[in-house]
Amino acid sequence: MDKRPLNVGLIGGGKGAFIVHPHQKAIHFDGTRRVVAGALFPDPKIALEEAEKWPYPIQGYGSYDEMIAAQASLPEEKRLDYVLIVTPNHVHYDPAIKALKAGIPVFCEKPLTVNLKQATDLVKMVRKTGIPFGVAHTYLGHWTSRFSRFIVRSGLLGEVRWVDSYYIQGWLATRLEASGQKQASWRTDPKKSGAAGCIGDIGTHALMQLRYVTGLEVTELSAQLERFVPGRALDDHFTIYCRLNNGARALVRASQICSGHKNDLGIVVCGTKGTLRWRQEEPESITISLLGQPDRIYWRGCVTANDGFLKDLPADLMAEPTIPPGHPEAFHDAFARLHRCFEADIRKWKATGKVTIDGSKYANIDDGWMGIAFIETCVKSAAKNGAWTKMPKKI
Ligand SMILES: NC(=O)c1ccc[n+]([C@@H]2O[C@H](COP(=O)([O-])OP(=O)(O)OC[C@H]3O[C@@H](n4cnc5c(N)ncnc54)[C@H](O)[C@@H]3O)[C@@H](O)[C@H]2O)c1
Repeated sequence: MDKRPLNVGLIGGGKGAFIVHPHQKAIHFDGTRRVVAGALFPDPKIALEEAEKWPYPIQGYGSYDEMIAAQASLPEEKRLDYVLIVTPNHVHYDPAIKALKAGIPVFCEKPLTVNLKQATDLVKMVRKTGIPFGVAHTYLGHWTSRFSRFIVRSGLLGEVRWVDSYYIQGWLATRLEASGQKQASWRTDPKKSGAAGCIGDIGTHALMQLRYVTGLEVTELSAQLERFVPGRALDDHFTIYCRLNNGARALVRASQICSGHKNDLGIVVCGTKGTLRWRQEEPESITISLLGQPDRIYWRGCVTANDGFLKDLPADLMAEPTIPPGHPEAFHDAFARLHRCFEADIRKWKATGKVTIDGSKYANIDDGWMGIAFIETCVKSAAKNGAWTKMPKKI
């Protein structure tokens, strides 16, 4: 494929939407991808008006059906190379399956769908077609998440015994949805959010961080889903005790009612030799604590091989584009790293007709499926007051 920038179409993103904006910055980050089109709102008239108001010229469409159908009649260089789905959870499945049917790669927000049947359909479709599909688990895009994964998976902490993976927020500590606030309204509505509130919204990030960093899978869990704010239809706080497939134990927990907390996502991994700690609110470093030794704090950009703890370091990890340490990378850089890696896979797929998306650079379709399987298993367990409940077998 030539070096023309990839064309991206937005599904969702009009009228005060949130997550489209970090994404569109990340899409433009390297100059090799650009947003060219959008179906930004459910009402066709407003969708076109919102496209007109977009800060740079894009082709507006009245609906994602129209945008997808229009692709077939465009010359190759004008067609969409991928769509980005940034709609509420109940509008992920339909545009995703339609884009895949039209042969268009998809980068979709999490949680993948609102139920396991939809997630299973998507997995089957992606496997059948081989079309690139990514899920936007933002925090995998931090260099320090990549580095944590390398440390834990290469056994430098010994055998993993315990993991605490958490995401604590406070923005729903009051009944914000009663004021009509856009993001709170659909997140607390089971028809739009799915069977779970907090757990689908941010619990899936905590689960993904655990799976990405450790490579371990939850086999069985005991879940308490709580609703602290009176009148709220879905959980706003949960605690899940998990058994992992190597015999280790883990807590996956999240809250949206812990007043004062912002986006306190973090992970603690305890192995037989030491512990790793990482927090996304300070995402540029990780702390390693080894038995009987002073703590080691590793900053992105200040990591060298064979330092008494680290051994050889993978070239691709060290080569990931970065700015010098001390110029902080954060949320937008993480998003950009995901889109950069997705772009590389699309270019490979276009050039060779196939690509393996293994989840090492961004969450893949199987990771998306696992998030939904986790939600459904938690809901079942919580309905039986936390009874130990097995996760479904991977498909
Ligand atoms: N990865 C992350 O860190 C992260 C952070 C926030 C949100 N999210 C996810 O992103 C998605 C969107 O969340 P948000 O907070 O940006 O929501 P939002 O309510 O701010 O934006 C949703 C947008 O989708 C549009 N929309 C709804 N139905 C549509 C349709 N049929 N056609 C076209 N547009 C339609 C809405 O008009 C709005 O513009 C959710 O799935 C959420 O879970 C992920």
